[in-house]
Amino acid sequence: MQNKTVEFLKEAKGEFVSGAGIAEKLGITRTAVWKHIKKLRTLGYDIESREKSGYSLRGLTEKLLPAEILPGLDTKIIGTDENKIRHFESVDSTNGVAKSLASKYPDGTIIVAEEQTGGKGRLDRSFFSPNGKGIWFSLLLHPNFLPKDAPKATLTAAVAVARAMDKFNLKAQIKWPNDIMHDGRKIVGILTEMSGEISRINYLVIGMGINVNISREEFPPEIRDIAASLSEVAGKEISRIEFFRAVLEEFDKLYIEILKNGFDDVLKLWRKYNITLGKNIRVISAENGETFEGVAVDIDSDGALVVDTPEGRRTVYAGDVSIRTK
Ligand code: BTN
Repeated sequence: MQNKTVEFLKEAKGEFVSGAGIAEKLGITRTAVWKHIKKLRTLGYDIESREKSGYSLRGLTEKLLPAEILPGLDTKIIGTDENKIRHFESVDSTNGVAKSLASKYPDGTIIVAEEQTGGKGRLDRSFFSPNGKGIWFSLLLHPNFLPKDAPKATLTAAVAVARAMDKFNLKAQIKWPNDIMHDGRKIVGILTEMSGEISRINYLVIGMGINVNISREEFPPEIRDIAASLSEVAGKEISRIEFFRAVLEEFDKLYIEILKNGFDDVLKLWRKYNITLGKNIRVISAENGETFEGVAVDIDSDGALVVDTPEGRRTVYAGDVSIRTK
């Protein structure tokens, strides 16, 4: 309901609107309006109040609220209405929240938080997710493809972010399977979790952490040399709301494509953005923790990485890759 109040204030384009006017329009009491205003202020909206004139909206919030994301969001499945965008101030991990809500929420629900206190990375690592500085979110999906195709859904998410970066004229480079890099430092990480049976996915949670406006000094020293942010690449602040919309729109288009026609086109796009193929790499296999080196030659139709090693050709389904300089 407080979203209706904010919509009403937005429509007034900075003019004052009376509490009584809002109350009448929304069919609520003036006290309820006042409560909405108080709540909206805590959410970061700048609202001036004057005794005789009422309320005027002076500034919007920077938070990733449905009321800010939805206007102008052009998607067909992902986050299409307020019910499908669940915003939290602070959570342990948006993937954790998404998994706990998975049975109740529909395909295309987004769980987004201003900060994560226990952000999870791949291979049991933690993921730095400071307040208001990035886009920390999870997509809850109930797709009709097979569980064996889930890794390719992760590649799809990486391509969606790369295409969003294109829209912002930022060069995107994907390191297999799905890290988005800049000059050897990681800007975006993706963690996919799944529940399913052999022939059916119950749910897929694709968690994405996008470092948006984090300066070099703001990263903890231990990741300062391996992490980067969009604002560093752009040389200026990037609107989290606008970038988030772009990612959701790109993912929505690709998701519709893979549900209808499979992953061929997405794999082609992935190849276009990849920086792994043709390089000397070191692999830590997630299957058995083994480390080996070789040349990355291709990704196969499952999205697995094909590596030529001195001992022969190997296929890696999950793992961590570092690109060797020589
Ligand atoms: C990685 O690069 O290791 C994957 C990082 C994934 C981070 C995102 S942030 C939103 C979602 N919630 C989590 O706890 N992790 C993912």
